[in-house]
Amino acid sequence: MALGERDPVTGYLTTGHEWNGIKELNSPVPRIVYVFLILTTAFSLIYCLLMPALPLGTTYTKGLLGYDERQVVERELARAATVKAPWHELLDRQDFVALAADEAVMREIREAGRLLFGQNCAACHGTNAMGNAGFPNLATGTLNWGDSPEVMQETIRIGVNSAHPETRTAQMPAFGKDGILSRREVDAVIAYVHDLGRDGIAAANLAHSDGAEIFSAQCSACHGEDARGNAELGAPNLTDSNWLYGGDLQTIFETVWYGRQGQMPGWEARLGARNVKLLAAYISDLRTQRP
Ligand code: HEC
Ligand code: HEC
Repeated sequence: MALGERDPVTGYLTTGHEWNGIKELNSPVPRIVYVFLILTTAFSLIYCLLMPALPLGTTYTKGLLGYDERQVVERELARAATVKAPWHELLDRQDFVALAADEAVMREIREAGRLLFGQNCAACHGTNAMGNAGFPNLATGTLNWGDSPEVMQETIRIGVNSAHPETRTAQMPAFGKDGILSRREVDAVIAYVHDLGRDGIAAANLAHSDGAEIFSAQCSACHGEDARGNAELGAPNLTDSNWLYGGDLQTIFETVWYGRQGQMPGWEARLGARNVKLLAAYISDLRTQRP
């Protein structure tokens, strides 16, 4: 077919190319493609004029609008800080009683505290703060170091057996491993401690007089004559059902035989004083909701 031949079906001219009887039509590029190209080119030219766009060695074209994302972020951060400032200032200045009475501040503390706790504490203490074996339940029951918000603030600040220079130290001796008590004596005292938690001190004294004697001689200095613990030393109350490691005979045996030194990091350096106080107020508030 010669160049310029018109295709009878479409009405277009052909290019003159032909492959095995198939001829190529010289159909024009659709107009919409030109329109699209013109619009996008115009857009990119205008964008380059108005906005920061082209690198020029160490600097770049700033654009006629003077838009700067870094400045936008800085403005947003400054705005966020001024929005937060009023309750942050209250959090720093007021004691826990005044904070708990201020419903507006408590709303902020609950929201910020839930986030902070989720990010830093939940891995050990559980998302609901109810703890896991070896990690204390913070939401209910008595705490080993005391449950006033001031004491919790201090525990969170310096940690337990942590790297902080003022750390609290929890030392439950290894009575079996270190040979302080014989196997028979350990068995007697753990039977006593097991029943303490379940039946109370009077029943346990009756059922295990030998265990009670060993307890009085070896354990009461830290856990108390009445076995109700000593917050000064972080020694747990052994008469309630709130166990840090577990109240079954096997776990009590492991605790008494091998000893325990629970470790809780100190958070002062990582979170700062304000967030430490915020978390103490947050946990305190949780505890009033789940008595
Ligand atoms: C020097 C102080 C001290 C003495 C003495 C001591 N304890 Fe403890 N005990 C602790 C501390 C502190 C803890 C908490 C350990 C921790 O937080 O990791 C603890 C924890 C325990 C626990 C774990 C409780 C739980 O909630 O899981 C048991 C059980 C226990 N002690 C039993 C005994 C018995 C029985 C004796 C005597 C044979 C004894 N303790 C003597 C300080 C002591
Ligand atoms: C690496 C695990 C871990 C992380 C993370 C952790 N804790 Fe602890 N926390 C512990 C352990 C273990 C203890 C028990 C220490 C002991 O033996 O007395 C503890 C004890 C506590 C206590 C004292 C409980 C009592 O019985 O007196 C408080 C309060 C506490 N943690 C709050 C927090 C807060 C708030 C955070 C987050 C900022 C946090 N913890 C993060 C492991 C952890």
